[in-house]
Amino acid sequence: MESKGIGATNTLSAWVGPWGIYYAANITSDSTGIGNWTEEQFLLCLRKRKYKGLATNRTLLPPMPWPGLSLLSDDELKAIFAYLKSTKPIINVVPAAAPPVLAGKR
Ligand code: HEM
Repeated sequence: MESKGIGATNTLSAWVGPWGIYYAANITSDSTGIGNWTEEQFLLCLRKRKYKGLATNRTLLPPMPWPGLSLLSDDELKAIFAYLKSTKPIINVVPAAAPPVLAGKR
């Protein structure tokens, strides 16, 4: 999977490809999701691709469709954030991204 293409779990929550394994984030209103985020963090995350919406953090990883989402207006992004804040909180600490196993063997 890693060397020949891309695959995902049937819940679309884990993605395998040449980059390794990336896990979709918890964006429910729980504190393990976006529960403690400010609106500014959410805008920085989706506009500038910053993990957790913090300027010094790493960039968001694939396959998050960040280029399209970054074109939304402030009002649209704020509306999405308000909706996410209203969701049922789900406690879920998502595993850290894993680097490709094969990369070091080539
Ligand atoms: C309106 C649609 C979407 C919204 C609002 C959204 C929102 C977010 C946010 C805020 C994060 C960052 C979470 C964090 O930093 O802790 C994130 C991460 C992520 N999203 Fe999305 N997302 C959307 C669609 C998608 C889609 C369609 C996919 C997959 C095809 C996807 C895959 C991922 C992945 C894999 C991550 C983790 C990236 C990383 O760890 O760097 N997202 N999403």
